[in-house]
Amino acid sequence: MQDNCAVILAAGDGKRMKSKKPKVLCEVLFTPMLAWVIASCEQAELTNLCVVTGNGADQVEAFLEGNYRTVLQSERRGTGHAVMMAREYLREFAGGNVLVLCGDAPFMDAGTIQSALEVHTRQNNAVTVITAELDEPGGYGRILRNDSGIAGIVEQKDADEDQLLIREVNSGTYWFKTDDLLAVLEELTCDNAQGEYYLTDTVALLLNKGKKAGAYCADNSDVILGANDRKTLCELNEIARDRILEAHMANGVEFVTTDGVVIAPSVQIGAGTTILPGTILRGYTEIGENCVIGPNTLLEDTFVGDDTVLNAVQAYQSKVHSQVKIGPFTHLRPGSEIKSHVKIGDFVEVKNSVIGEGTAVAHLTYVGDSDVGKNVNFGCGTVTVNYDGVNKFRTQIGDDAFIGCNTNLVAPVKVGNGAYTAAGSTVTKDVPDGALAIARSKQENKEGFAERKLRDRKKKV
Ligand code: UD1
Ligand code: CA
Repeated sequence: MQDNCAVILAAGDGKRMKSKKPKVLCEVLFTPMLAWVIASCEQAELTNLCVVTGNGADQVEAFLEGNYRTVLQSERRGTGHAVMMAREYLREFAGGNVLVLCGDAPFMDAGTIQSALEVHTRQNNAVTVITAELDEPGGYGRILRNDSGIAGIVEQKDADEDQLLIREVNSGTYWFKTDDLLAVLEELTCDNAQGEYYLTDTVALLLNKGKKAGAYCADNSDVILGANDRKTLCELNEIARDRILEAHMANGVEFVTTDGVVIAPSVQIGAGTTILPGTILRGYTEIGENCVIGPNTLLEDTFVGDDTVLNAVQAYQSKVHSQVKIGPFTHLRPGSEIKSHVKIGDFVEVKNSVIGEGTAVAHLTYVGDSDVGKNVNFGCGTVTVNYDGVNKFRTQIGDDAFIGCNTNLVAPVKVGNGAYTAAGSTVTKDVPDGALAIARSKQENKEGFAERKLRDRKKKV
C-alpha cells in the first residue's frame, strides 16, 4: 500500500473529559486512544500517517516524538476543515487512497480497515464509508441508502424524523481516492445546523460529480465507539479489558476471576500462567509460561521468564528470569535484573541492581545500585547505603557471600566471594574473599547494673 496514506483527525478538545490532556491522549487500558488508532493503521500496513492536531497540539507532538507528520488546525471548524489542513500532505499521495479516521475512536481495527479497502477498490469507489448498525444510533451521522449504494450522510442535528430512525451510522472512518477527496474539499460549505465544514458532505458532492460512493458495514459495531467524557472512556476500558482477557484465555492463560485484573494491549503472557485478582500489567510487559502472577501485582515494562511466582509485587522496567519467587510486598524499581532461582521476600526493595542466580534476599532489605553474585544470602534488614546526598555509588557482592542481619554496606564497597559480614556491621571498607568483616562496637556487660537501678527506684516510692 505504497501510495496509500492515512489522516487521523485529532484536533478535538475533549472539554467534557475535564482533562488537561487533549482528548486523543486520554487512555484506554493505559494506552492513549491515538496510540490505538496508529497501531491499527500500522497493522493494516499503513505507514504514511498524518495527524491533524489542534487543542494541546504540543502534547500530541510530544507523544508522537516526530515519528509521524502533523498539521495544525488552529481553529476547530469541523471534520471537513480538519482534512483541509492536510491538503499539502494529501497531494504527496496523489493517485492513491487515503484513509481518514478519528483519533478518539480506538477500536477501529486493521481487519475492518483492510476489508473496507477491498470493497473500495473492487467497487471503484471515490469514497467508501465504514458504517455500523446500532440499536441506538443517537448522536451519529445516519447513512442514506439508495439502490446503487449510498446517497449521503446526514448528521443527527440536521436529520428529519424519518432519517433519525435509520440505524446504520457513520463510523467517522472513510477510504477516499485521494484525488477525488482533494477535488471536493474546496466545495464544502458550513451551511448546516452546526455551522461546520462537514467531511460527511463530501459523499453527496462526489455523487453529484458522477463518482461512486459505497459503504462497508463493520461486523462488530464496537469499531465506531469513541469517548467523549469520563463515563464513556470507562466504558471503553471495560470493553477493551474484557476483549483482551478473553484473548489471553484463548491462549491458555488462567484467571480464577477477572476481578481487578487490567492488562494493557501490549502485554504478552505465556500459556499455563495464572493471573490472580488485583493484577495490573502494562507497558511492554512479557510473561513466560507457568508463572503465577498476583494477587495484587503491578508490572510495567517488565520481562518475566517461566515458572516464576510474583505475589504482591510492584515491578517497573525490570527483568525477572525463570523459577524466581518474589513477594509478598516487594518493590522492583527500574533497572533491576533478578536471575533465575532467586528468592526475594517481604518488604524488600531492589533498584538498578543485578541479583545473581540462587541468591536469597528474604526480608526487610534495600538493594540499590548493586551487583550481587550467585548464591548470596542476605540477612534480614540489610541496607546498601548507595547515596551520600549528592552522588550514588555501587555495591559489589561476590558469589556465596553471607551478609549478616542488619548490615549497612556503605558504597562504594566490595564484599568478596564467600565473604561474611557480622550482624549489625556498618561496612565501609572492602571485604576480601573468604574474610569475615566485623564492623560494630564490642559488647560490654555491666554486672549487677539492673539490680542497683531497681533498688534506687523502689526507694523513691
Ligand atoms: C462525526 C461525523 C458523524 C459520525 C461521527 C462518528 C461529521 C460531520 N460527522 O461526528 O457522521 O457519525 O463522527 O464518531 O464528520 N475533529 C477535528 N477538527 C474539527 C472537528 C473534529 O480534528 O474541527 C476531530 C475530532 O477530534 C474527532 C473527529 O474529528 O477525532 C470527529 O469529530 P467529532 O466532533 O467527534 O464529530 P462528530 O460530531 O461526533
Ligand atoms: Ca464524536
